[in-house]
Parts: sequence; structure tokens; C-alpha cells
Amino acid sequence: MSKRDEPRTFQKRTFQKRPIQKVLQDEAATLAFGAELLATLKAHYADGVVVFLEGNLGAGKTTLARGILRALGHLDAVKSPTYTLLEPYDMLDWEVFHFDLYRLGSPGELEFTGFDEIMTGPGLKLIEWPEKGQGWLPSAHAKVRLATYDAGSGAPLQRQVSVDFA
Ligand SMILES: Nc1ncnc2c1ncn2[C@@H]1O[C@H](COP(=O)(O)OP(=O)(O)O)[C@@H](O)[C@H]1O
Ligand SMILES: [Mg+2]
Repeated sequence: MSKRDEPRTFQKRTFQKRPIQKVLQDEAATLAFGAELLATLKAHYADGVVVFLEGNLGAGKTTLARGILRALGHLDAVKSPTYTLLEPYDMLDWEVFHFDLYRLGSPGELEFTGFDEIMTGPGLKLIEWPEKGQGWLPSAHAKVRLATYDAGSGAPLQRQVSVDFA
């Protein structure tokens, strides 16, 4: 067999999933970071991605979800699904399931019809307050932590974000 006829072997592409750490100076920076994170997730995963959004009330979790949704083409408002637990978005590329588990009484409330299918199925699952669903949620492909950050000298509070990939 000549060299030309040898079956070509492709090296499996391995993406480096380096952790991310950043200061987000204002709301616009959080929204822009949403687009950046989406691009990274798309490079790493074909579909069916679980993202935990951790951080205190007001840390910017919903704002980041809005940035991701905006980058997928959703230009309207993003409701915080605090009372409904889930707000779905049927975007062109990726279906998005935005959860906010803050008011979850017990993880058993997550047994609603379709929950398992959503979690194991395709689409992007963004989950605020994942700690409230501990034991019921699948493991995350990416864990995002947001925190307020005081840059000093009386400047408005900024945000700090870190992302770890599984
Ligand atoms: N990087 C940032 N710097 C300053 N304020 C921000 C930043 N990101 C978001 N915010 C503001 O923080 C507030 C709370 O954000 P939100 O996304 O609702 O928080 P959470 O969902 O974590 O409770 C909003 O008023 C938003 O505009
Ligand atoms: Mg929120």
C-alpha cells in the first residue's frame, strides 16, 4: 500500500478547558461575558450542557443568563424564574432551560413531569441556586461563580466571575 492509500487518521481534537477568572466592571461586562461563555461552551460541547450559576442574591446570575440568551438571539427581557422554577427558551441553535431554584422547598419538587428528560436531553441548562437541588441535579459541565467585588475608593461594586469546567 502506497503512502497515499493509507487510511488517514485524524487526531481526536482535545479542547483545553482552562478555568476562567475575570472582573466584570459593570452590567454590560456581565452581558458580554455571557456571549464569551456561550462561545466557549459551544467549542467544548455539542449539545446537552448543564451550567451551574452560583452566587448570592444580586451577584449577577440572571444578568449572565440574559447575556447568554442575548448571544443566542433572544433580545427581549429575561424573567427571573424564581416562582416558576423554569423558563424555557426555544432558540434556533440551542434550546435553553433557565432554572432558578431559590424558592425550592425540597429537592423532591423537582420531580415534575419532564424534569429528568430536560436534564438528560439536549439544550443548555442554566441553573441558578443549584445547591438547593443538591442530590437531584446532574453534575455540571461548567460551574460559574459570581461574587460582588469592591474595587475600593467608593467605586460602585463590581462583580468577579470564575468558571470551572468538568
Ligand atoms: N458586573 C456588574 N457590575 C455591577 N452590577 C452588576 C454587574 N452585573 C450585574 N449587575 C447588576 O446586579 C444586579 C443584580 O443582578 P441579577 O443578575 O439579578 O443577580 P442574581 O440573579 O444573582 O440575583 C442587577 O441590577 C444588575 O444590573
Ligand atoms: Mg437571579
